[in-house]
Amino acid sequence: MAARISVIGTGYLGATHAACMAELGYEVLGMDVDAEKIAALTAGTVPFYEPGLDELLAKHVASGRLRFTTSYAEVAGFGADVHFICVNTPQRKGEYAADLRYVEAVVDGLAPHLDQPTVIAGKSTVPAGTAVRLAERFLELAPAGAGVELAWNPEFLREGYAVGDTLRPDRLVIGVASERAEAALRDVYAPLIEAGTPLVVTDLATAELVKAAANAFLSTKISFINAMAEVCEAAGGDVMQLSEALSYDARIGGRFLVPGLGFGGGCLPKDIRAFMARAGELGVDQALAFLKEVDAINMRRRVRMVDLAREQCDGSFLGKRVAVWGAAFKPNSDDVRDSPALNVAASILLQGAQVTVYDPKANDNAAKLFPTLAYADSALEAARGAHVILHLTEWQEFRELDPEEVGKVVSQRRIVDGRNALRAQRWHEARWTYRALGRPVVG
Ligand code: UGA
Repeated sequence: MAARISVIGTGYLGATHAACMAELGYEVLGMDVDAEKIAALTAGTVPFYEPGLDELLAKHVASGRLRFTTSYAEVAGFGADVHFICVNTPQRKGEYAADLRYVEAVVDGLAPHLDQPTVIAGKSTVPAGTAVRLAERFLELAPAGAGVELAWNPEFLREGYAVGDTLRPDRLVIGVASERAEAALRDVYAPLIEAGTPLVVTDLATAELVKAAANAFLSTKISFINAMAEVCEAAGGDVMQLSEALSYDARIGGRFLVPGLGFGGGCLPKDIRAFMARAGELGVDQALAFLKEVDAINMRRRVRMVDLAREQCDGSFLGKRVAVWGAAFKPNSDDVRDSPALNVAASILLQGAQVTVYDPKANDNAAKLFPTLAYADSALEAARGAHVILHLTEWQEFRELDPEEVGKVVSQRRIVDGRNALRAQRWHEARWTYRALGRPVVG
């Protein structure tokens, strides 16, 4: 059984992977070029919000099983059986393609120190063909030469459920070019495989593609139901009932079929674009042309949300107060990357309203990105004096609010539910005008 693991890149993915590998019993060294992040992690603090990760990290930093460094030389000298690459691959500015500079920097930083045979497993989301290219670079730069073997092991964890998804994944995918790499990864994941996790062992390109395909499918499912919401609005139907009725068909299923403001975050939007870009390079752009529509439907939700909010402000935002509940791209996260909620809040601000945002965890991150929005410390404070409340990220605490209490602080009782997550009838009974994407007017 592999005893030592290194994890390079300690963001949402890497920090979780490192702590979970320690939980599985390995000696783990986490590495990042961001010294501030490493100082926080070394002190046992997670520099972002992820439920359950704080406890796991603190436990294994205290036990000494989990350490952190900013040094590639130390990572190489650690003698890891497997080095995991967990850095991010954002969208290139002004293009659809993925920016691979961080992955490439890891190879260039680590390879010159690798003088012993080892296995590198990439977990970052990369375009098909990247692993083969990086393997050639390792061969060129590493003193151990062909002794350094590269595998690709895509990650499917969701933010907000990252710990559970890592310790109890629904499947493991391992792309390899050699038996030794396969054996090393089978060893690392032995506890999960023994617990019954399905394992797919494949080639490098397929492993890279599985990840892109999974996120493309999830995005398509969300945009499908949001397209149905557009049709429901036009035809006078109720997309929530439509979605429920579809969900009982086991072939369709109800997950990722919740209509609303659509998908955002650091993964789905940029991954479908990178997938399209790669398909274009491979000469099969037609195969993925539908993803352009998936993206367009998704972005239209934001525009529609702003339109609905304006309607509730009697046609103009000028001189109006708008409360925005939610800033994170989804609940149980403080991640505001490509957040639909913030996109809507900022558009409305630019159209002349006074916008006050409240998010249980993401206010600070949102304020860094959009300092001109106002931020409140509670949902009620954000709602004070509002002409309309927009519910844009479905945190549980918003669902639990008493419409009667909220009604006492607003200027007028109007709410637009961008996530179809509030109980419409309750708000209606408290004399609110409740509007939602894809549903008839209540109240
Ligand atoms: C997504 C995938 O679900 C993970 O499997 C994958 O590992 C990850 O991207 C990644 O590539 O790293 P994540 O971005 O954390 O995970 O969040 P999701 O739970 O997938 O939600 C994405 C977006 O879709 C959110 O903005 C959410 O509000 C939205 N969504 C989700 C809907 O609008 N409707 C739904 O029914 C479900």
